[in-house]
Amino acid sequence: MLEDPPTRERRELVQQLQATVHPEEGEIPAFIFSHPLVYELEQERLFGQVWLFLAHESEIPEPTDFVVRDLAGQSVVVMRGRDGVVRAFLNMCRHRGMPLCRTDQGRQARFVCPYHGFTYNDRGELVGVPFHKEVFGSALDQSRLGLIAPRIDSYAGLIFGTWNEAAPPLAEFLGDMRWYLDLVVNRAEMTVVGPPQRWYVDASWMLAADNFIHDSYHTMYTHASIAKLGMVPSADYSKYGYQIECGHGHGLNLGIPSPEFVFCEELREEYAARLSAEQYQVLSQLKNMVGTVFPNLSFLVSATHFKGQPVSNTTLRLWVPRGPGRMEIWAWML
Ligand code: FES
Repeated sequence: MLEDPPTRERRELVQQLQATVHPEEGEIPAFIFSHPLVYELEQERLFGQVWLFLAHESEIPEPTDFVVRDLAGQSVVVMRGRDGVVRAFLNMCRHRGMPLCRTDQGRQARFVCPYHGFTYNDRGELVGVPFHKEVFGSALDQSRLGLIAPRIDSYAGLIFGTWNEAAPPLAEFLGDMRWYLDLVVNRAEMTVVGPPQRWYVDASWMLAADNFIHDSYHTMYTHASIAKLGMVPSADYSKYGYQIECGHGHGLNLGIPSPEFVFCEELREEYAARLSAEQYQVLSQLKNMVGTVFPNLSFLVSATHFKGQPVSNTTLRLWVPRGPGRMEIWAWML
């Protein structure tokens, strides 16, 4: 019997990967970063299966606020309903598949499809069909044609979604990483500043995700200029600290000890109240922290001096795959 070519290609690729990927020796072949079939497989078996970051809750603070995001290659609307509950919907009309929402963000209680005018409410329910009786008679059951919804859940203001009904609960997926995420986004009431910056880079999302997990080595050369500018005492600042593996693919670099407290003095009480004693102790000595929530959400906490005072900053980075060897980067400042 003739073998289906895509199946044969996939099988051969898997054999090639098994023969060339040696994590225990720290060796991976370069082709995985730009191979079209690797990309196809990772979209299907990775991004289509795990929890992915969608938005920060402060981006949609008011009822009917929404943002449009990417969930494993699909456009989704993330929305706070009139009841205050955050939901997400596939950005696709149930009639003939037209994208419903064509802006990046906004505030509206209803979405009207630009093609034939089907109307959906803030819960994703189909509430309006033009000329319903004349066109469809009794054949169209509106109650069955609400927008398709992925699973969503949140941790410390970070909203995640997945298409996988069988995925473990978000808290279980994040696991020990939650302890460190608390330092990043839960040490105080955090809000994002403005919409995210977005740009494209001709590189694999994997390179960026890997860099943020455990490549502090590059900073001594690539970022040596910040020592020349006097922003850090010397280019070898990243030699000090810990590399931490949290399971499920999550990991980070924790740069301690810092001789000075770099976060807001005015918020010390809030930090102490929201964090455990151990977390507050780590925060008190922290200057740099960079990590990745598997697979593609990264964070960076760092500090510099401005007018003699340490000033910390916190950013989130999302490495969105946009084809083999290409990604879109989303960056939020908190
Ligand atoms: Fe949306 Fe027809 S495609 S109403």
